[in-house]
Amino acid sequence: MAIKRKYLNFLQHIDEIKGEDLEKLKVILDGLRKEFSKYNWIGIYVLRNEKLELLVYSGDKETEHKIIPIDKGLCGMAVREKRIVNVYDVTNNPVYLQCFPETKSELVVPIYKNGEIIGEIDIDSYTLGAFNENDEWFVSKIAEKIADLVYKNI
Ligand code: SME
Repeated sequence: MAIKRKYLNFLQHIDEIKGEDLEKLKVILDGLRKEFSKYNWIGIYVLRNEKLELLVYSGDKETEHKIIPIDKGLCGMAVREKRIVNVYDVTNNPVYLQCFPETKSELVVPIYKNGEIIGEIDIDSYTLGAFNENDEWFVSKIAEKIADLVYKNI
């Protein structure tokens, strides 16, 4: 399956990226956005004192939600409920915090270190229902690969 091969190639490529921690994370996010056209805005949030803080992002626009308390938004929900949050249509979701009017669907995948959530990968898509279980699997694998780097930068 071609898309699966693309995921595997990308995961392999992550291991080869060189550079400082935050630069490396930025290269990964830029690469994801370039390779996967439905991933329109990608951010890594880290959990600091019950708040999610934006560490690095790739996207055309800046978000005004750089700090999200864990009782707010889909980002907070992923931490509170310790699970992946995959929303087909954000426009009718009461928990959703809007960052960009173009966003139609969103995927939030927790990043774990020693069994605890230390942050998350948040992806906005301008396409409705952009994310399926393959995206969940793929982004979870990325979360595993970047966990040490993220942990060092909390
Ligand atoms: N939509 C998110 C907020 C972060 S922005 O998408 C960048 C949420 O509902 O938590």
